[in-house]
Amino acid sequence: MNARPHIPFKKTETSDLDFFHKILSPARVLTDREHIDRCASDETEDLYFPPEVVLQPETTEEVSRIMAYCHEQHIAVTPRGAGTGLSGGALPVHGGVCLDMRRMNRIMQIDTENFLVITEPGVITEELQNAVIGKGLFYPVDPASRGSCFIGGNIAENSGGPRAVKYGTAKDYVLNLEIVLPNGETMWTGANTLKNATGYNLTQLIVGSEGTLAIVTRIVLKLLPYPTENLLLLIPFHDAGDAARAVNRIMLAGYTPSALEFMERDALTCAQRYLNDNTIAIPDAVQAHLLVEVDGKDKDVLFREMEGIATLMESFDTGELLLAEDSSQKAALWRLRRVVGEAVKSGSIYKEEDTVVPRACLPELLKVVKETGNKYGFSSVCYGHAGDGNLHVNIVKGTLSDAFWHDGLPDAIREIFTYVHSVKGTLSGEHGIGLVQRPYMDIVFNEAQMGIMRQIKTLFDPTGIMNPGKVV
Ligand code: MLT
Ligand code: ZN
Repeated sequence: MNARPHIPFKKTETSDLDFFHKILSPARVLTDREHIDRCASDETEDLYFPPEVVLQPETTEEVSRIMAYCHEQHIAVTPRGAGTGLSGGALPVHGGVCLDMRRMNRIMQIDTENFLVITEPGVITEELQNAVIGKGLFYPVDPASRGSCFIGGNIAENSGGPRAVKYGTAKDYVLNLEIVLPNGETMWTGANTLKNATGYNLTQLIVGSEGTLAIVTRIVLKLLPYPTENLLLLIPFHDAGDAARAVNRIMLAGYTPSALEFMERDALTCAQRYLNDNTIAIPDAVQAHLLVEVDGKDKDVLFREMEGIATLMESFDTGELLLAEDSSQKAALWRLRRVVGEAVKSGSIYKEEDTVVPRACLPELLKVVKETGNKYGFSSVCYGHAGDGNLHVNIVKGTLSDAFWHDGLPDAIREIFTYVHSVKGTLSGEHGIGLVQRPYMDIVFNEAQMGIMRQIKTLFDPTGIMNPGKVV
C-alpha cells in the first residue's frame, strides 16, 4: 500500500539558510546549540533528535513560504508547539527544519456574541482559558500541562485532561482551522458554525493528525458559559481495584462529574515528595484515591451531588473523605494530581502508555497492567482520567537493564495493548501515537485500515516532508 519511494531528505545547506533569512528576520532563523537542543527533545522519555535549523514564523504567509520551499527542496519539516508531548510527536527524527510555532501566539478575537475564540496556535492553553473566563466564557479542555502547553499542540494531539469526562476533548471544540499544506497552499477546513453537514470533515481530519498532514496557523474554537462554582472531593480507598470499580458506580448512578481522576498510592506519594507537600496524610492502608469534581452555577445543587456521591462510597472500604474547604485546598489537590507525570520522571526515565478502554473495563485494565508487571518484572505508576477509562501507565526504568528496557519491555507493552484491544479499547486516549507508539499500531489496525491512513497522508503530503517518521 505504501507505494511512495523513500527519497532521502535534503540536509539544509547555506543556500537554504540564505533563503530562510530572506523570509524571516535573523533572530528567527536559529542554528545555535541552545535552540537546537531545546527542539531536539520533548517530554517523551530521554529521546534526542536534533533539527538542523529552528525557524520561528510569525504569520501564515511566512509558514506558507517556508513550506513551499521545503516541499520543493525536499527538506523534512517538524512542527513544534511547547514540547510538552508524551509520544515524541514533535521530535525531528529526520533532522531538517523544526517549525517552532511559539511566535504565532496572538488571540485574534473572543466573539462573545457567538461563543467563539479565534486564536493562533502558539498561545498557552491556560492563557487562552483565562482570557475567555475574563469574558464569562469557558474553554474546558485542560491537559495536565495547561500552564505550558500550546493550544496548537493540543489540537495536533487531540488532547484531553481531567475535564474530558464531562466536557470532551479538543476535537469537541474545534470548529474551523486555517492550515498550510506541505506545498504552501493555505485554506480553511470548515466553517465558524456549531453545526456543519457540508462535505467531508476536513477539520476533524486535521485534529489529532500530529502535524503529519498540514500546519495549523489559526484555530476557531467553540466556547461554553463559564461554570462559576465547583466542589472537589478526595476519596481514599484501601483497595485500588475498589477505586476503579467506584468510578462506574458514580457514573451509573447518573452523576456527571467534571473530573473523575484515579491515582494509585505511588502516584500521589511521588507527587507529594516531588512538591515537598505534606498537606494530605496518606495512611499506610490507603492504596489509591479518586479525585472527584462537580461544577455548575448553583452551589446547593453541587453539594447535593457530592452528598450523593459520598453516600455511594459507603459500600466501599474507604478512608476518610476530604471535601476541599476552599480554593487554596482545591488548588493544592489539583497541583498534586497535575504534577504526577513530572514527579515520576524526576525519579527515573519512564515509558508512558496512554491506555484507554470502555469505562467499565477499567478495574480489569488495572489488574492486567499489574499482572503484566509482575510477569515481566517491572513496576508502574498508574493514574489518569478514570471517568474516561483512560489510564496513564508510567513504566519506571529504575534499575531495569538497558537490554530489557529496549528489547524485552515492548513485548510486555504489546501484551497490555492486546488486552486493551480485546475489550475494544485503543492505544492512546490523549497523548497520540507520535514516534513511540507507532510500533504498536498493528495491534489495533489491519493492513486495509493502515492503507487508508497512508493514502490520506500521501494525498496531503505527496513527498512525505511533514513530520516524517510519525503515526503512519
Ligand atoms: C496527565 O494526565 O497528567 C497528563 O496526561 C500528563 C501525563 O500523563 O504525564
Ligand atoms: Zn492525562
